[in-house]
Amino acid sequence: MRRLTPALGLFWMLALALLGQGPALAQLPQKPHNLMPVPAEMRWGQGRLPLKKPLRLQLETTTDPASVTAAARRSLARMQGPAEPASGPLLQIRYGRLGSPELFEEERYSLRVTPMGVTIDAPTSLGVLRALATLEQLVVTDKRQRYLPEVDIQDQPRFAWRGLLLDAARHFMPVAVIKRNLDGMAAVKLNVLHWHLTDDQGFRVESKVLPRLHEVGGADGYYTQAEVQEVLAYAAARGIRVLPEFDVPSHATSWIAAYPRLASNDSIYGVYRSFRTSNIAIDPTRETTYSLLDSLFTEMTALFPDPYFHIGGDENDGRQWRRSPRISAFMRERGMVKADGKTVDKHLLTTYFNRRVLAMLQKQGKIMVGWDEILGPDLPKEIVIQSWRGKKWLDDAVKQGHPSILSEGYYLDLNYGAAAHYLPDPLPAATTLTPAQQKLVLGGEAAMWSEFADSVILESRIWPRAAAVAERLWSPQASTQDVPDMYRRLGAVSVFLETVGLRHRSAPKLLLAEMAGTGNVAPLRTLAEVIEPVKEYKRHFQGMVYTPQTPLNRLVDAAPAESEVARRFGVLVDSVLLTDARKPPLSPVPLRQLMRLRAQLLQWQANDQQFQLLLVLNPALREYAPLSTQLSAISTLLLERINQLQANQIPSAAWLKAASATLKAAQAPAGQAELALIPAARRLVGI
Ligand code: ACM
Repeated sequence: MRRLTPALGLFWMLALALLGQGPALAQLPQKPHNLMPVPAEMRWGQGRLPLKKPLRLQLETTTDPASVTAAARRSLARMQGPAEPASGPLLQIRYGRLGSPELFEEERYSLRVTPMGVTIDAPTSLGVLRALATLEQLVVTDKRQRYLPEVDIQDQPRFAWRGLLLDAARHFMPVAVIKRNLDGMAAVKLNVLHWHLTDDQGFRVESKVLPRLHEVGGADGYYTQAEVQEVLAYAAARGIRVLPEFDVPSHATSWIAAYPRLASNDSIYGVYRSFRTSNIAIDPTRETTYSLLDSLFTEMTALFPDPYFHIGGDENDGRQWRRSPRISAFMRERGMVKADGKTVDKHLLTTYFNRRVLAMLQKQGKIMVGWDEILGPDLPKEIVIQSWRGKKWLDDAVKQGHPSILSEGYYLDLNYGAAAHYLPDPLPAATTLTPAQQKLVLGGEAAMWSEFADSVILESRIWPRAAAVAERLWSPQASTQDVPDMYRRLGAVSVFLETVGLRHRSAPKLLLAEMAGTGNVAPLRTLAEVIEPVKEYKRHFQGMVYTPQTPLNRLVDAAPAESEVARRFGVLVDSVLLTDARKPPLSPVPLRQLMRLRAQLLQWQANDQQFQLLLVLNPALREYAPLSTQLSAISTLLLERINQLQANQIPSAAWLKAASATLKAAQAPAGQAELALIPAARRLVGI
């Protein structure tokens, strides 16, 4: 949504009034608001519903309203505190029946705010939950009052599957952390928690039939079945489904550590203490493997009520199968060989394995989900494919008739900016898929793998960026193309999300305070605000070997995945460049922008001296001294550049050469973090 200036808004209102398009709800086409995901349809009025007196809840339904009442009370408590007895305007809620998230039931709702009160209408209780999430975001606090703006909203999701993957295997995530994230998900209308519960580094659910799985695989943390139930109930109350993932045949070293008979060779494994792809895989040829899996899946499919069950299936290069004479012989005997008739083909053994697992799940009435590696020519069509290696896999899967989910483009652990996750679309406008194939695209999932996120910093790696993915998956395509406006609303939603309980903003601050100790935290904060962890998987390859035991309490861990300060700096730089500052006389606006730039750069330039003082108190910060020094150096450079712009001076070749060298040096990471200002600095310098 593009922001209308007040004057322009007034113009439109007058114009529309003159056209007789009238009154009750002026047909304002757009209005600045902080809603995320943006609703499908909004008509804004001019009135307000002041929140001086607490809203009074009134439910009209023939079905058991307990869960909806509880949800409405939670929303009201967040909006207006624990205000009892409520004596203000009515919050009227009407819905037809209880909606089950497991069945993808309707989430459509209408929400109307007038100066007299609020009404929510929805076919199911799920729609009511989504409406309440919108209502909470509508609250405006200005200098004089808190109020709800007059509005009529008709809303429904674009995709039925809007997920967030939480990886509790690489670092165990306590129940409280999962619950906080469920609250965050509900606030932005995400409706599937994909709970990655097992991996090489951990098996995180209590198994009563195979207890060594959690005793050995979850020695450093697992969920009891009672805790799982608690999470499931918490999610269900928020209209969120829980999709459990038990990753096989690879990513399962913790299982093999517990039950060595699962191994594809004669090695003895411990729970994996590295984050490198292991390519260790369980043995798909032994009947004992299937009897163990059958016992486990019988237990786990009963524990998790969702009709879908994720079996992973990713990243098995087949080396252990090829290298095992016994497994290779099994493959040859069954013709699992490539076209040359000799070389064993892991894909065929994978399909064999998947079919056996599928039969177990079908026996329990489950629909199997797997990562895109499991896609093969003979895979039964009901299997859902989750694409992570590339969008091509999503398209291939639906062309082969599989329902599919997109995760490529939504990997939050890669530390890209929100825009990078906002723009990928499961069904881009230019899609070549047929309407029938398009129907098979269920939606998408943001994924937060937790190699570099423990329970303290997890939220700061997920939020607020996951809200951008949530909007991509909920909102109409046509109203989700404006990236600057997305960032404007993301800033507001980020603040809002802490009020629902997330700690994505407060946790990094605490880490910084801890690092500063008795010293001044300000220079540390200034540096932390303009650095980001290195992107993609580079953190594994910069001289430091991480294990699940490596503390995540360094500056890189307190740095945001996307620096908001650097992003705003880039916006400021671009606005200066757009005004063509080289053509004097400068108008007042670019002058003001130049002054803002100058003030910022002076602060950064001076920061290094103060940062150096902190190193005496906390020598562990020394690894980040190069970034602090480079921040100062590029600030000096950019201050010179601003002088040139203001003096209408063309930089000399020698100056440009030196500038280029400075920027190159400033690009070097330190402590697996990097300055986020370099692209904007390059634009300002013009190289
Ligand atoms: C994956 O990221 N290996 C699914």
